[in-house]
Amino acid sequence: MILPNDLGRQFALHAGEYEQKAVEVLRSGWYILGEEVKAFENEWANFIGSKYCVGLASGLDALWLSFKILGIGAGDDVIVCANAYIACVMGITINGANPVFVEPDKYNNIDASKIEAAVTKNTKAILAVHLFGQSCDMDTITAIAKKYGLKVVEDCAQSHGNKWKGKTVGSIGDIGCFSFYPSKGCGAFGDAGAITTDDKEIADAFRIYRNYGSEKRYYNKVVGANSRLDEMQAGLLRVKLRHLGELNAERCRLAGRYTEEIGNPLIELPEVRPGADSTWHQYVIRVREGKRDALIDYLKERGIGSIIHYPIPPHLSEAYAYLGKKKGDYPITERYASEVLSIPMFNGMTEDEQNAVIAALNSFR
Ligand SMILES: Cc1ncc(COP(=O)(O)O)c(C=O)c1O
Repeated sequence: MILPNDLGRQFALHAGEYEQKAVEVLRSGWYILGEEVKAFENEWANFIGSKYCVGLASGLDALWLSFKILGIGAGDDVIVCANAYIACVMGITINGANPVFVEPDKYNNIDASKIEAAVTKNTKAILAVHLFGQSCDMDTITAIAKKYGLKVVEDCAQSHGNKWKGKTVGSIGDIGCFSFYPSKGCGAFGDAGAITTDDKEIADAFRIYRNYGSEKRYYNKVVGANSRLDEMQAGLLRVKLRHLGELNAERCRLAGRYTEEIGNPLIELPEVRPGADSTWHQYVIRVREGKRDALIDYLKERGIGSIIHYPIPPHLSEAYAYLGKKKGDYPITERYASEVLSIPMFNGMTEDEQNAVIAALNSFR
C-alpha cells in the first residue's frame, strides 16, 4: 500500500540523528522548556527571518493565543479563507470572535481580491492561511490590513520555509503561527507548535500565556494555558530543521514530476501563484465531472491511498452550526470540497511508487 504520507520514511532518512538526540534529551534530566527549546526557538526565528520565536504545544494554541494576545474576542470579526482547515477557524472562535469567510482563488488560498468587500466596522484581523505549502497573496493582504488598521496573523502550519516574493512566510504579518504536527514539513514526533514575531511585547506575552500566565513561578499575571514545548520535541525538531532544505527540495522534485507526467482531462493539476513558491505540503488535484470519489476507489484498488483536504468546509461543519450558514453560501469552497484529492507526497517516496501513482492517475477514465 502506498500511503498518502508515510511518516516512517522521513524518520528513516535520518534515523541515527533522531535516535542520538532522543537519548541525549532522556539523559539530560530536563524535559520541559529547557536548553533544547531555547536553541530551537533561536534557530526557527533565524530560519523564518523573524526576531522572536516562542515554542508552544500545538498549532491550534499558536492561533487562539495569537488572537487572545492581540485582544481580539467577542464582537470582533476575523477574515479567513472559507476552505481553511477547521483549526484555523477554531483559533478565532475559541476567543469568542466571529469568523468572516472569504472564498478561495484557484490556488486554494484566500482570494485577496474579495477581502476588502468583507471588511466590516468590527473587523480586527485577517488570518492568512498558507494552505498546502503555498503562500497567500501577501501584498494585497498587507495593503488592505494597512488601509483598515487590521492585524495580520499568518497560519504557516502547512508552509514551513516557503516564500512570498523572497520573504519567508511567518515573517510578513504581525504573528506567524506554526504547527509541527508530525505530517507537517518540519514535523515533530508528537504535538508541537510555535509563533514567530518581530514584536518583543507579543513574544513576551506568549512566554507568559504558555505557562499558566506566569513569568515567575507561582506568580500568575493572567489566566493562561499549558502550552509548553517539551525538550524532546524541540531537540528532534532541531535535527529536522537541519535537513529541512533538502526535505523541501525533495518534495519539490516529486511535485515537479507529478506536474510534468500526470495528463488526464479529468484531472486538474495544482498551480503556483506568481510571486509564491510551494513547499508542496500536499499535492492537491481536483477531479472533474463528479468523479473524485470514483478515483479514490480506483486508486485504492491499485494499493494507492489518498486523502481529501477537506471534505466538509468549516461553515457546514456541525461544530459551526451556530453560525447559521447553509449549503450554497460559499459555492467555490463547496465545489473544491467535492473535487479535491491529495495524492501521495512524502519524503522518502520511491521512484517506483511515484510511477505507480502516475500510471493509475493517467489510466483513470
Ligand atoms: C492550516 C492549519 N492550521 C492549524 C493547524 C493546527 O495545528 P495542530 O494540529 O498542531 O494544533 C493545522 C494542522 O493540524 C493546519 O493544517
